[in-house]
Amino acid sequence: MIKTKKTIINLDKVSFFYPDRLPILDRLDFTFYQDEKIGMMAPNGSGKTTFFHIIMGLIKPESGKIEIFEKPVTREKDFLEVRRRIGLLFQDSDDQLFNPTVLEDIAFGPLNLGKTKEEAIEISRKTLEFIGLNGFENRITYKLSGGEKKLVALATILAMEPEVLLLDEPSAGLDEKTKERITTILRSLKISYIVVSHEFDFLSEISDSIYTLDRGKILSDAEMYIHQHYHAHPYGGRPHKHKNE
Ligand SMILES: Nc1ncnc2c1ncn2[C@@H]1O[C@H](COP(=O)(O)OP(=O)(O)OP(=O)(O)O)[C@@H](O)[C@H]1O
Ligand SMILES: [Mg+2]
Repeated sequence: MIKTKKTIINLDKVSFFYPDRLPILDRLDFTFYQDEKIGMMAPNGSGKTTFFHIIMGLIKPESGKIEIFEKPVTREKDFLEVRRRIGLLFQDSDDQLFNPTVLEDIAFGPLNLGKTKEEAIEISRKTLEFIGLNGFENRITYKLSGGEKKLVALATILAMEPEVLLLDEPSAGLDEKTKERITTILRSLKISYIVVSHEFDFLSEISDSIYTLDRGKILSDAEMYIHQHYHAHPYGGRPHKHKNE
């Protein structure tokens, strides 16, 4: 029997625009399968964050169909399951962290999922260790540095054991060593993810394919770089010019 891959996200002609603005998403088609690890690189303001927020049901499309885990999602009730199974790392960590201490912030998700206080604390400690932030339990969240906040925000998501991750610029503002740690963490995860970043090298380390958002539509790297190559060179898929062009 042939086992076909499960579809996690399917967007069918989804459009979204803010009032009096050109469409941010314009009849966008997109399918994301289980076990895929996708990178997304596109200019500022092209709609990457909007795309993630549409998937999570934080904003509603003007038109089009959304199916997640092979079920149509329209009502708020449908998105509750989506938010339980898909973890979104917000572009701005301050949107993610709202408890006084790091431990409380990480334990919040597991507690919400019905874990006991002891279980939630245990999960939080393990997640902090996994992410390399031992000893951060009682740190005051709002006093953390930007990079530390980003790591704690990632920990709050991982503690909920999501099946899928949507990470909105996880590497932004991180030093090289911390970025390497995130790279190692992501590569060790056995779950599907879409990662938005402006850093090609980071994305190529953690993803199998890189997509872009262009005029409201998602294009694969194959569609992005349509010019023909008769030679190979490192990062041939990266936008580049040749001397004689
Ligand atoms: N609430 C809003 N009202 C009006 N316009 C908005 C609103 N939120 C976002 N926009 C606009 O929608 C466009 C897409 O924004 P979005 O945040 O999705 O882009 P992005 O690709 O994530 O950009 P960046 O790389 O800077 O994070 C931008 O032009 C932005 O100014
Ligand atoms: Mg964004």
